[in-house]
Amino acid sequence: RVAGPSGLVIFGVTGDLSRKKLMPAVYDLANRGLLPPGFSLVGFARREWENQDFAQVVHDSVREHSRTEFREEVWQQLAEGMRFIPGDFDDDTAFKQLREAVDELDEKRGTSGNYAFYLSVPPKFFPRVVQQLKKHGLADAPEGSWRRAVIEKPFGHDLASARELNAIVHDVFAPDQVFRIDHYLGKETVQNILALRFANQMYEPIWNRSYVDHVQITMAEDIGIGGRAGYYDGIGAARDVIQNHLLQLMALTAMEEPAAFDAESLLTEKLKVLKSVRLPGDLGAHTVRGQYAAGWQGGEKVPGYLQEDGIDRSSKTDTYAAVKLEVDNRRWAGVPFYLRTGKRLGRRVTEIAVVFQRAPHSPFDSTATEELGQNAIVIRVQPDEGMTVRFGSKVPGTSMEIRDVSMDFAYGESFTESSPEAYERLILDVLLGDANLFPRTEEVEESWKILDPIEEHWDTHGRPARYASGSWGPKEADEMLARDGRSWRRP
Ligand code: BG6
Repeated sequence: RVAGPSGLVIFGVTGDLSRKKLMPAVYDLANRGLLPPGFSLVGFARREWENQDFAQVVHDSVREHSRTEFREEVWQQLAEGMRFIPGDFDDDTAFKQLREAVDELDEKRGTSGNYAFYLSVPPKFFPRVVQQLKKHGLADAPEGSWRRAVIEKPFGHDLASARELNAIVHDVFAPDQVFRIDHYLGKETVQNILALRFANQMYEPIWNRSYVDHVQITMAEDIGIGGRAGYYDGIGAARDVIQNHLLQLMALTAMEEPAAFDAESLLTEKLKVLKSVRLPGDLGAHTVRGQYAAGWQGGEKVPGYLQEDGIDRSSKTDTYAAVKLEVDNRRWAGVPFYLRTGKRLGRRVTEIAVVFQRAPHSPFDSTATEELGQNAIVIRVQPDEGMTVRFGSKVPGTSMEIRDVSMDFAYGESFTESSPEAYERLILDVLLGDANLFPRTEEVEESWKILDPIEEHWDTHGRPARYASGSWGPKEADEMLARDGRSWRRP
């Protein structure tokens, strides 16, 4: 899988995402030999830079963030195909220059008119950028070549705004030209959910309401909001990651086997799950939002959310969110899916735990199984990528005592191949036109339909609960599970 002749234009190239993820990913792809020799990278931003200033910025970002070894000859080849267009999104002259740059690169580097436009910009600029691309004839591919638009989340902040955004983008680009990035889908372990479920025989027979008690999907982060107050405040944890990453993880965990491993079939099955999601009747009892207070993390004193720079002191933004969802279909009826995420939690970990019912009957006397928990299959998305199966085993000794043990699979131990970074995989897929790992309009809209009533409920009901930084979230979240006779796993 090597990309054919092509180029990438990044709007918002001076932003954090571009420097930390996109530029290094492009270099790493080139370094792994997955880009064509004439690959070209065009940056567009409001800076008075020349091409070489841009190349220097890319160089610094690659040296700091790349995953692969630095090789001068790879760098030189890539750098020769770098161009910078200074200007803002209203600037027709800049878009004319962009058009000229594309033509020039087609000629000099053989990019063959194949271009992906990466909108690494806040959504309020999407309309302007796509309209300018249309106006300057950049959105339409010349005969025999392709043009694609890559958009970063957030895809709106509710269903209505997502629909508006989709309409604007689709006014210019056809659905199969649009690639929406949900970088969780680019992660190896996330793709492995389907491999695990559908390439094996032993999991699927028990992957249903007859055996599964509930599912817990956790995305915990130890970081706070860093310098992202402007984006995060008013958005919050649920919109930031439940609407996209966590609902995608849930869809992959719950979906039926796709008819084929292609974008259309995957969409069909994921969409069925999202459409079957049922919210709890009592949102107050089965959802929780929290906001971090000051606390200690990694031996360091850290400020609370309301003390962070750029945050409104009375902000009601959630930095923690937990929700209980059910999937109303034959496979999952009655099995709760608990989703939770938070910033400034105990440690950084993302996992999916499928927790099984207890054995229907035990021939051992009750003291033997006192310390036995529920069986679980835990997919460790990150860090320590892998999977753990927890089950009971006899404790060595003269009496019958059964205790939980773990069986572990770790990527690091089983494979010598290194994992590409999520953005590497996704950028390569865009250039190849492979849409499997990109959520489509329908999924985005269905996900907002799930989240909107929860956000509306929160809007009209008090404030987020407080939790200490470095803890595992507000006590209300523990109470939420305790009400169902369950408890959160401590990853
Ligand atoms: C992003 C969110 O989508 O994912 C961030 O906007 C979050 O708030 C990030 O920190 C986490 O990504 P990862 O890959 O580090 O788990």
